[in-house]
Amino acid sequence: MKFIVCENHSHLAEVISDLIIQQVMSKPDSVICIPTGGTPIPAYQRLIEKSKNIDYSRVSFFNLDEYIGLPPTHEQSYQNFLKKHVLDPLGIALSQQHLLRSDSPDPILECLRNDAEIDYFGGFDLMLDGIGENGHIAFNEPSDHFEARTHIADISTSTRLANARFFDSLDEVPHQAISVGFEDIIKAKHLILMATGSRKASVIERLVTESTISCDFPISFLRMHPNVTLVLDKAACGRSIDVLINTGQSL
Ligand code: GLP
Repeated sequence: MKFIVCENHSHLAEVISDLIIQQVMSKPDSVICIPTGGTPIPAYQRLIEKSKNIDYSRVSFFNLDEYIGLPPTHEQSYQNFLKKHVLDPLGIALSQQHLLRSDSPDPILECLRNDAEIDYFGGFDLMLDGIGENGHIAFNEPSDHFEARTHIADISTSTRLANARFFDSLDEVPHQAISVGFEDIIKAKHLILMATGSRKASVIERLVTESTISCDFPISFLRMHPNVTLVLDKAACGRSIDVLINTGQSL
């Protein structure tokens, strides 16, 4: 696992946007899976500003996850979020946007459709992901098992509480979501995880200090991934900051 420690959230936005551009320049037909949440927003803004001369016409974009039951026009529908914050400003054609639907009449079919599309494109070249405060990735929540592929997930109370800041009230936060599974995460050729702020410090400390892999701490699964880059700001490093800085880019 490689670590990049950034001064602050703005610095992280520079690093993440540069990594995405490097990916697209080195493989113009890249298949990229991207996240929502507060963490990536500044990176998406920088990406848009830096992309005037970047050709995205052959890049395919997928999303990591999506709430079930929100209208697609809802501010917090992840499809709507990604279109607004990154895909439409970058000029990504609809045919290149492979997004989960929050209003699918049959979420199980929507999962199968997503798996078929991922398979058609041969999996992800780059997956970018945030980290939940309880160690979830996408909507793979702490559980007694790992899900391999796109699936319907029950959103934990702690995640609903964490995400309630984006809604008018906790009651509005959906109880279920669709999420990619660990098979597609582990097969991504490069996985970039990002975290900012002291709210993420305890999960990062646990990731750095423990060595087990367990489904009650989903992010621990990534210890098995051969090419993970964890991009953190100093606040997210918490008490592990000396270890992370002293070991430079890798641990
Ligand atoms: C949500 C999403 C995740 C995201 C996480 C972190 O629960 N399902 O995909 O990584 O929140 O979000 P934030 O960046 O706002 O901390």
